[in-house]
Amino acid sequence: MASRDLSVDFLGVHFQNPFCLSSSPVGNCYEMCAKAYETGWGGVVYKTLHTDDFKVDEVSPRFDELTKECTPFVGFKNMEQIAEHPLESDLAAIRRLKAEYPDGVLIASIMGQDEGEWEELARTVEAAGADMVEMNLSCPQMTSHAMGSDVGVNPDLCRRYAAAVKRGTSLPVLAKMTPNITDMCVVAKASLEGGADGIAAINTVKSVANVDLDLHVGLPVINGKSAISGFSGKAVKPIALRFLQQMRSDPELADLPVSGIGGIETWRDACEFILMGATTLQVTTSVMQYGYRVVEDMKDGLVRYMGSQGVDSLADLVGLATANILPAEDLDRDYRVYPEVDQDACVGCGRCYISCYDGAHQAIVWDEADRRVSVDEERCVGCHLCRLVCPVHAIHFGRVAMKGGRDGDPADVVCRPKGVPYDLT
Ligand SMILES: Cc1cc2nc3c(=O)[nH]c(=O)nc-3n(C[C@H](O)[C@H](O)[C@H](O)COP(=O)(O)O)c2cc1C
Repeated sequence: MASRDLSVDFLGVHFQNPFCLSSSPVGNCYEMCAKAYETGWGGVVYKTLHTDDFKVDEVSPRFDELTKECTPFVGFKNMEQIAEHPLESDLAAIRRLKAEYPDGVLIASIMGQDEGEWEELARTVEAAGADMVEMNLSCPQMTSHAMGSDVGVNPDLCRRYAAAVKRGTSLPVLAKMTPNITDMCVVAKASLEGGADGIAAINTVKSVANVDLDLHVGLPVINGKSAISGFSGKAVKPIALRFLQQMRSDPELADLPVSGIGGIETWRDACEFILMGATTLQVTTSVMQYGYRVVEDMKDGLVRYMGSQGVDSLADLVGLATANILPAEDLDRDYRVYPEVDQDACVGCGRCYISCYDGAHQAIVWDEADRRVSVDEERCVGCHLCRLVCPVHAIHFGRVAMKGGRDGDPADVVCRPKGVPYDLT
């Protein structure tokens, strides 16, 4: 594919492309990370390291999935904690990876139980050759409440632990945020005050994804019981993007360096995170489902998207959407765009009629005789439920009108009909 440059500089570190494995089982040992570099990932965030004082004791089974109409892994629930190996064996893997793949960025994720441990872990991973440190302030299913998301919702601990990490290393430091919080800006700012250089967001969302109807237990069932734990994958993408928006639209965080995480599965997801302010991107769940090769399509699509946007540098795309997402009270409430039915494409299934009647404003007119629909603009409020439920994409954005006959040109209808891709040829 085209030779457009996907490289980015992030916190002073050069990435051949923005795609990184996020810290998780997908980057858990030398062999996995080596294969990821060879498949074309720009970086690896190694599975979270800890001191040998913390004993990782995992449950079985440890995963569950949310499905919808036969689509697996719409969301993914895991019960896993942090690295399962002794610290020294992971440090040896990091040393070997840096020796053999010097151009692949290696970010060491760490988690301590107190300031001393954070500082020491930071010092240790720098000595092993890591390029960057990521503070895991965010795993939600730790067996110790002195670790993980219980720490990441506490601004004072975030500040103190970031300062401890900076005492231990001169490497750039990312603080990885928990989404299990109302306002991420508070803990992000505290982490930066402590000395963190940027933010990684998000870790997993606390969840109960399914309940066994016979056993009356959440899934996965671990010898008869279950627990709340982290949810990831496509379903969390909207939550991740919302937090990126909240941070980057805070005047104090406008230039915040961000590594975006949460439900990135396709090149389109990747572009969305970049437009919302992420410079690098991290991925776990889609790799667990499809393997490291997902990066090939994501890189290919990103290069084509850059071409369609006429940019040569990824940096030119970072954060372009932030200024276009406003507080709800600032939107133009005079603006109406009506749906338009493409009669040649319509298959007469009636889905739009049913949804509009039962769930909206009874504005779709159903002609029983020839199974055709049309829009009654007197009743239609332009909500576009009909367009979203149409299984054959036969409903598009149509006429634009300004409520109350307001003067001036309505903005272009820039919304894209569902399912119609960008022209990336
Ligand atoms: C099985 C599993 C284990 C994970 N372990 C860690 C971990 O050790 N450290 C960490 O910071 N995040 C961990 N995560 C969170 C991921 O790095 C990532 O933040 C989250 O899954 C959202 O990204 P995704 O939707 O691409 O999976 C884990 C996620 C999963 C699914």
